[in-house]
Amino acid sequence: MSTSFIAITTSDPLHGSVNLVGAKNAVLVIMASLILTKGKNTLTNVPFSEDVLHMMRLLQSLGAHIEQDRDNRTLVIDTSDLQPAQIGADIMKKMRASILVMGPLLARFGMADIAMPGGCVLGARPIDFHLKAFKKMGTRYTQHDDSLMAEGTLKAVEHVLEYPSVGATENIMMASVLTEGKTRIVNAALEPEVLDLIEALRQMGAQITIEPPASIRIEGVATLQPIQHQILYDRLEAGTLLLAAAITGGEIELPDAPVHSMEVFLSKLEEMGHEITRGVDGKGVRLKATKNPQAVSFKTMPYPGFPTDLQAPMMAALCLASGKSIIHETVFENRLVHVRELQKMGAQISVKGQTATIVGVDELYGASVIATDIRAGAALVIAGLVAQGNTSMTGVHHLKRGYDELVPKLASLGGKIKMVEE
Ligand code: UD1
Repeated sequence: MSTSFIAITTSDPLHGSVNLVGAKNAVLVIMASLILTKGKNTLTNVPFSEDVLHMMRLLQSLGAHIEQDRDNRTLVIDTSDLQPAQIGADIMKKMRASILVMGPLLARFGMADIAMPGGCVLGARPIDFHLKAFKKMGTRYTQHDDSLMAEGTLKAVEHVLEYPSVGATENIMMASVLTEGKTRIVNAALEPEVLDLIEALRQMGAQITIEPPASIRIEGVATLQPIQHQILYDRLEAGTLLLAAAITGGEIELPDAPVHSMEVFLSKLEEMGHEITRGVDGKGVRLKATKNPQAVSFKTMPYPGFPTDLQAPMMAALCLASGKSIIHETVFENRLVHVRELQKMGAQISVKGQTATIVGVDELYGASVIATDIRAGAALVIAGLVAQGNTSMTGVHHLKRGYDELVPKLASLGGKIKMVEE
């Protein structure tokens, strides 16, 4: 049975407390990193989103034995019998994060035989930084149509990234931890999810040092051990839930929220007029929504700037704020597709290049809308909670790729929202 749409009706203000799950962008790369080990690894706080299920299938296709305990959010992944098997288009195309197995495969087996990855359509999304870095380390490529064979004995070198790409930083690190000598990544991404990967790799026995302002130094080691690792809580799920509460004029608490990594986003919520109370020691947050939210402007940036993954959900909330908000999307060139869908709901938004100008309206209206990527889906769900009348959102598979239980969580807070299966 497949989910065909999400039905949402105008909801009362959201109220209550809800627990978060582990971060999708951390668990996917940490699952890929387990290729570097030989033995039984245990991951806890795992979100069982569709992308995680795809990564499980990918690892199984390489010979991993996996036990899952969804109630306890645990995955046991045994990497003893891995082989560098070919990873076909059927698996690689499901998500862009599939490319993250390339670094660890090259490190463990000296080869990776993959189809080109897929994922959300957020512009060209090339993988040139990854391929250039592996080439500099001594990898040779043979390309046939859509498949790529990479082979070579890796050597430690210095990498200078022209942009702090999250995936390229992670892939280079995973390729380098077993490579003899000193590797350096200059202009590295230091997103919290990258830091969670570093913590997991260090537990395995990797020697990794962060050098301010944004370099990573790696000293290769001969072998790495299996790990037990708890995935960090998802700042993006936290942000999505806070925005859902904010737009409905509600009050919610997220006891697990990693507030230290959400400061720029939280400061924008405060600038809108919402009351934010941070928990002690950087854990937990409470939002009490203002009845009169104000427009705010921002541009998306690599961490610690405003995260591109919260741009679309934030835009939904700004559709009902007083005044004019300007959002400049700098990370991905095709990440304003949700504008068209929000316009169908009565939002006043104009787009010029990578900049969206939102003029707050008094009301949004229910409509039939389509999610075109994970975070666009979140934005439409948020807008649907306050739109007058009924909203139905198709493209649900996008939302499910990145969120484990967003719909039941919103419903538990009082949202009138449900999955309708067909
Ligand atoms: C990761 C996240 C995604 C998030 C993004 C930015 C995962 C699984 N996904 O994606 O949710 O939105 O970081 O925070 O962790 N680029 C190139 N060449 C490359 C690689 C990237 O030009 O080889 C460009 C991209 O097109 C984009 C920018 O660099 O414009 C940032 O991309 P990157 O940081 O690599 O994002 P992902 O790792 O794909």
